[in-house]
Amino acid sequence: MRLQQKIALITGGARGIGFAIAQRLAAEGAILVIADINEQGAREAAAALGPEKGLGVAVNVADGSSVDAMVKTIVDRYGRIDILVNNAGIGGNTPFLDITPEEWNRTISINLTGAFLVAQACARVMAKQGSGKIINIASLSGQRGGHGRGAYGAAKAGLELLTKVMAVELSEFGINVNNIAPGAIETEMAKFAHDRPTRAAYNYLIPMTRYGTPEEIADAAVFLSSEESKYIQGHTLNVDGGFRAAGLMFRGSKALGQADQL
Ligand SMILES: NC(=O)c1ccc[n+]([C@@H]2O[C@H](COP(=O)([O-])OP(=O)(O)OC[C@H]3O[C@@H](n4cnc5c(N)ncnc54)[C@H](O)[C@@H]3O)[C@@H](O)[C@H]2O)c1
Repeated sequence: MRLQQKIALITGGARGIGFAIAQRLAAEGAILVIADINEQGAREAAAALGPEKGLGVAVNVADGSSVDAMVKTIVDRYGRIDILVNNAGIGGNTPFLDITPEEWNRTISINLTGAFLVAQACARVMAKQGSGKIINIASLSGQRGGHGRGAYGAAKAGLELLTKVMAVELSEFGINVNNIAPGAIETEMAKFAHDRPTRAAYNYLIPMTRYGTPEEIADAAVFLSSEESKYIQGHTLNVDGGFRAAGLMFRGSKALGQADQL
């Protein structure tokens, strides 16, 4: 119970990685606010944590007034915000030549501007408290050039840099700001975005030869939310089965063809 009575906000927590993080933080004793554009989903997710364990609220992270209303709801009810997991996001897999300005703007507005708006509103509360933990959910796509990842990758790369600036400026207020960069994780987003050849390619290129689970991201989030990580600041923790670390891997001449069975 490392997070006993801590007030933790998770955006995009109605399902997937966000919900897995909510479950793990709740198991460590935190009180969860699950905020999602899917209000019904947020309420159901909060209820699934158990009585008095969580609150489900609606938010569109790309809309500043919606974010402000969410933060006011939390502060009115609990008086503080100890942990923010900036997780809400949308995928994207459009070749560079085909990205429309509308898709570009939508992806940046949710994945980067949204994270900024929520982090700033929460950091203002945390600065008054003199303590807080902010965890941004970035992506391997923000570190390496993946096909179709122009808008998505640019947003996640921006989030990594924003994390460093926040770490520099918010240290004096006792706020830790770090990233988790998931690799390929088995969620609804991945099921939608990754077709069979894509899955085969990932399985071949990941040293651990499999997708990660939302629970494995949640384990990292618990660590970065806890006092055990108090001297970790402005860092990106990759949780990717070795994908970022890998160079050439010899797996035999048939390995490429068999990758979807790995
Ligand atoms: N799944 C992966 O392989 C993977 C890899 C790297 C990074 N990520 C990142 O992890 C995070 C979660 O991904 P996931 O796979 O669980 O996705 P998901 O689609 O399963 O869940 C995303 C959640 O965010 C919510 N959401 C979307 N737009 C929103 C908005 N404007 N305001 C509030 N909530 C909104 C959705 O309703 C949904 O509940 C995202 O930031 C994603 O970019 C995922």
